[in-house]
Amino acid sequence: MGVILELGDMEGFLGQEELEGRKARAAEICRGLYRREDPGQVLGWRTSEGSAVQLDEIRKKAEEIRKEAQVFVLVGVGGSNQAARAVIEAMKGRPGPEVLYLGNTLSPYSVYEVLKAMEGKSVYINVIAKNFETLEPGSHFRILRQWMGKRYSPKEMAKRIVVTGTAGSRLEGIARREGYLFLQFPVAVGGRYSAFTPVALFPLAVAGLDIGAYLEGMESARGECQNRPEASPAVIYASVRNLLYGKGYDIEVMASFEPRFGFLEKWWMQLFGEGEGKEKKGIFPAAAIYSEDLHSLGQYMQDGRRNLIETFLTVQDGGASLPIEPCPGYGDGFDYLDGMDFGRMNKVAEAATWNAHRQGGVPCLRFQVDEISEQAFGELFYYFMVSCAVSGELMGVDPFGQEGVEAYKRSMFAMLRHNVEED
Ligand code: PA5
Repeated sequence: MGVILELGDMEGFLGQEELEGRKARAAEICRGLYRREDPGQVLGWRTSEGSAVQLDEIRKKAEEIRKEAQVFVLVGVGGSNQAARAVIEAMKGRPGPEVLYLGNTLSPYSVYEVLKAMEGKSVYINVIAKNFETLEPGSHFRILRQWMGKRYSPKEMAKRIVVTGTAGSRLEGIARREGYLFLQFPVAVGGRYSAFTPVALFPLAVAGLDIGAYLEGMESARGECQNRPEASPAVIYASVRNLLYGKGYDIEVMASFEPRFGFLEKWWMQLFGEGEGKEKKGIFPAAAIYSEDLHSLGQYMQDGRRNLIETFLTVQDGGASLPIEPCPGYGDGFDYLDGMDFGRMNKVAEAATWNAHRQGGVPCLRFQVDEISEQAFGELFYYFMVSCAVSGELMGVDPFGQEGVEAYKRSMFAMLRHNVEED
C-alpha cells in the first residue's frame, strides 16, 4: 500500500464545503503543473524523463565505488544533499563505504573531523552544486582536491572524484578539464526539487540502495498527482494547510516517532521553508522527533499558542522487534511492560499523543507508510514536492525561487572578499 494521508477531526477547524472548494482549486493548479510549458525552466522534476538521467553511468560508477571505497564523501548543501542524506541515513546498515557529509557547514571543527575520518582510507568524493557559487561546497571542494592531490596520482584522483553540476557551469569546466565523471544537475530542476535527479540518485546507488524501487515510488505518486489530483495526498495536504494558514495557523511541526525520519524532516523543512517563506507569507516549518521531543516541545504542542499544525509521519512497521523479557523482582514499578515489544510501546505513545494534541486544539494530519523503504521515500518526496508547488500558487508566492537566501550571501561575500568583519 502506498502513502496514506489521514486528517484527524478537521471538522473542528474547517468546514466541509470550504475544504471541497479549496481541494477543487488545488487540483486544478496541480493539473496545470503537468499541462504547463516551462519557460522559466523550473518544472523539470515533474517526470522521471526530465530528472532521472544518466542511470547507466550512475549504476556503473556506483558499483565501482562500492567495491573500491571505504569512505564516500558527499559534498553539497541544501537541496544538493538533503534528499540523499534523508534516505541514506534512514536506511543505513548495508555493506558498502561509509558515507560522510561535507559542503554543509563552515565549522572548522566539523570539517576537520571529516578529514580526520578520511585518513588512511580509500576515499571517493561526489561534489554537488547547481551553480557552484555556494561557499560551503566551493570551499570544501578546494580542501578536498588539495587533500586528494597529496595522496593520489592525478589519474587516480580523477577516478575518485565525481561532480554533479549544471551543463555550462564552472564545475563542468573543471570536470572536463581534469577528467572527473560529470553528472547532470538538470537545468530545469531547482535544488530542493532534485530528489529524482543524479543529485540524489548517484549517492543512493553508492549507498547500495535500490534506485529502481525509489523511482517506482516516484512514478506511482506522479500517476496519482497527474491523473487523480483531487484524491492525491499532495493536493489534499496543500488544501488543508492552506485553509488552516488562512485561519491563523502559521507554524507547522512535522512530528515522527521514528528517529530514522530525522533527515527527511530536515529535507521537508527546506522544501517548504524556501518554497513558501517569502513576501512576508508562509507557514513556518519546524520538526520534532518523538518521544524525545515530547519532553520539550510536547508541552508547547499540548498547551501553548494555538497557531500550530502538527503533521505526523508514521511508519507501520518499525523495522525491528524488541520485547522486554519479564524480570520479576526488579522492583522498578515497570512490571506492566513484561513481554511488551518496544514497537508496541512506540505505537501506543504515538496514539496517545495524537489524541492528546487533537484534544488540546491542534489540527493534526498524518502521513503513513507501511515501512521505511526506497519506494516509500520516492512517494513521499514526490507528494511533498507537488504539494509545495501547489501550495505556493495557492498562497500567491513563487515556490521555485529563494531570493531571500541571497541577502545574507551578498553581505557575507562582500565581507569575505574585502576580508572585513562588518560590511
Ligand atoms: O533549493 C535550492 O535551490 C537551494 O536550497 C540550493 O539547493 C542550495 O542553496 C545549494 O545550492 P548549490 O547547489 O548551487 O550549491
